[in-house]
Amino acid sequence: MKYARITGTGGYLPKRVMTNKDFEAIVDTSDEWIRERTGIIRRHIAADDEKTSDMGLAAAREALQMAETDAKDVDLIIVATSTPDKVFPSTACIVQRRLGISGFAAFDVNAACSGFVYALDIANRFVRTGGSKCALVIGAEIYSRIINWNDRGTCVLFGDGAGAVILQASDEAGILSTHSHADGQHEELLHVPAGISSGYDQVRQESAFIQMKGHEVFRAAVGVLGAIARETLTANNVKESDIAWLIPHQANLRIISAAAKKLKLPMDRVVVTVDEHANTSSASIPLALDVAVRDGRIKRGDLLLLEAFGAGFTWGSALVRF
Ligand code: UT7
Repeated sequence: MKYARITGTGGYLPKRVMTNKDFEAIVDTSDEWIRERTGIIRRHIAADDEKTSDMGLAAAREALQMAETDAKDVDLIIVATSTPDKVFPSTACIVQRRLGISGFAAFDVNAACSGFVYALDIANRFVRTGGSKCALVIGAEIYSRIINWNDRGTCVLFGDGAGAVILQASDEAGILSTHSHADGQHEELLHVPAGISSGYDQVRQESAFIQMKGHEVFRAAVGVLGAIARETLTANNVKESDIAWLIPHQANLRIISAAAKKLKLPMDRVVVTVDEHANTSSASIPLALDVAVRDGRIKRGDLLLLEAFGAGFTWGSALVRF
C-alpha cells in the first residue's frame, strides 16, 4: 500500500505583531505574567480585511512551491479551522476556487486545536486507499475575531496564522500512523457558547467569544498528551529515543515541557513556536513544522511526532517519517 508523504510545507503569519506589553494597556496583566505562565512573548494579529482563506491560501502556495507541485495536481483539499470565512461554503471550497482548480472533494474539519491532526488523519486515509494522489491539508485560524479582548484569562493566549502541507502518494515511507480521539463531556471547559443554532442572533456579545477554565484544560492537556504519545509509540513499536522532533500543539510552554519530559526528550528536540506565535489553534502544528523545515532543523528521513489537544475535548497525533 502506498504511503502519504509530506512533500511540501508552508506557513503564513499576518504582518501585525502584538507584544505582551501591548496587552498591558488593554487588560490587567504584565509581560512577566504572560511569559512565566505561558512562554508567549508576541503573536501575529490579522488585519481587519484579512480572512482565514487569505492566510490558508498563502500557506498553501508556499507548500505547493516547496513540493514543486502545480495546483492542478491537487485532488483533495481539507482545511482545519474553527474560524471559517463564512458559515458556508467551506473555507476549503474558497481556497480551491482561489487556486483556480475544481472538481474534487474540498471540505473543512472543526476539531478546534486538534483540527490539523484530524485533517491529516483523514487525508492520510484518502491517499492510502487510492482516493487522492495529492492532498492539500491546511490549518488556518483567526482567533483574534473570537477573543474577548476584556478577558485577561484568554485574550493574551491566542494569535492568528496558517500552515499547510502537501501530501503525496509515495512508495517511500511518510505518515506511519495517525490517532484521533474525542471526549465530548468537557464542552464547557473550553468553548464559544454562541453558534448557528444557539444564540446566533446575539453574536458580538460575550457568548460569541472564547471562554475557558484554563487550569482544568491545562491539567487535561498534560494527561492526554502523555497518553497519546505512548499510544503512538506503541502502535509503531518505536522508542522515545527514535523520535528526532516532537512537534506539539503550541498552547503553553509549560504543557509542551511536560509532554517532552514524559517522552524523556530534551527541549532541543522539541519545536517551540508558542513564544513567537502564541496559540494559533489548528494552525499551530503545521506552522511549527514549516518553521523547523525551513530553518533546516527538520531533515528528510527524520522521525516526527505531532500531537495536539483542544476543545471538545479532542486530541490526536501522527507519527511521520519526513
Ligand atoms: O489550545 C487549546 C488548549 N488550551 C490550553 O491548553 C490552555 C491551557 N491552560 C493554560 O495554558 C493555563 O491554564 C493558563 C495560561 C490559561 C493560565 O495559567 P494558570 O497557571 O493555570 O493560571 P490560573 O488560571 O490558575 O490563574 C492564576 C491567576 C488567577 O488569579 P488569582 O485567582 O490567583 O488571583 C488569574 O486571575 O492568574 C490570574 N490571571 C492573570 N494574571 C495576569 C489569569 N490570566 C492572567 C493574565 N495576567 N493574563
